[in-house]
Amino acid sequence: MSAGSGSGPTVSPEVPALLRWATSRLSPDGGLDAEVLLADLLGCDRAKLLAMDGEIDEEGLRAYEKRIVRRQGGEPVAYITGKKEFYSLEFQVDARVLIPRPDTEILVDEGVRFLREERGGVGTVADIGTGAGPIAVSMACQVPGCSVIATDISSDAIDVARSNADLHGVGGRIRFVIGDLDDPLRQTVVEEGVDAILCNPPYVLPGDDRVDPTVREFEPSLAVFGSGDPLRIYERLARAASDLLSPGGLIACEVGLGMERDVLSTLSSAPGLRDARILRDISGLDRVVTARKVVADG
Ligand SMILES: C[S@@+](CC[C@H](N)C(=O)[O-])C[C@H]1O[C@@H](n2cnc3c(N)ncnc32)[C@H](O)[C@@H]1O
Repeated sequence: MSAGSGSGPTVSPEVPALLRWATSRLSPDGGLDAEVLLADLLGCDRAKLLAMDGEIDEEGLRAYEKRIVRRQGGEPVAYITGKKEFYSLEFQVDARVLIPRPDTEILVDEGVRFLREERGGVGTVADIGTGAGPIAVSMACQVPGCSVIATDISSDAIDVARSNADLHGVGGRIRFVIGDLDDPLRQTVVEEGVDAILCNPPYVLPGDDRVDPTVREFEPSLAVFGSGDPLRIYERLARAASDLLSPGGLIACEVGLGMERDVLSTLSSAPGLRDARILRDISGLDRVVTARKVVADG
């Protein structure tokens, strides 16, 4: 049986043998990826896949080999399957958007906690730099009484986010606006104010050699590195929070490793903000900086 290369028999079509072949091609740690890529192709979960002992057809074999070749080239699994789970929801992703990371879920945790405990489950949330929409869509799903404004400078990202919102039935409660950082908010919420500003900005410095080379190669540069000094972004966000948050409102921003003190100081020194603090993610890393709008001036 050919594996699709047209060069004769190479791969057994039996699922267990196929997984062994793929795992060896993706070694040293490719077993999980091999399983996820095949389970997705066959439309089943990994448990069901591992219990299979039948063969897959020629077309499936060719498609699977193509996936393994893409993965061998470093392409992230999520771009190959076209999906990524975030906050227990499935998001469609492709090369137009950053792949949502579990690290960012803490931002949603904080937004949900704030709206439920301090706003009675209603209010307006802004998600600046929405990407595939994981923050905006998760907030809308978790807090049915809230409305969301989701912005991004990339019209491609807005298209992906909008389709994810529709996929999860919350498109009617999210306003999508293309624009630079807080500009869209200043045009839309000046009168009514906004209760929470959530943002996972592009915070990686271009010269940061801790960045995985596949992130550099495959994910959108604008989403990873942005187009300037990340600290200027936090300064803009702090000004927007001072100007636009309703009294007691929340700003919560994801930060890069080692940036937390600078961002803390930026939010602490913004007029109209108080109680700046750092939140740790599930790995114990300083991941999010928050602050609150003062309740009354003076
Ligand atoms: C780190 S990604 C975050 C995406 C998504 N919120 C998430 O957490 O997966 C940053 C996003 O900000 C957008 N972005 C970059 N510069 C921007 C700017 N000046 N104004 C608005 N959005 C911007 C990028 O297009 C990208 O979608």
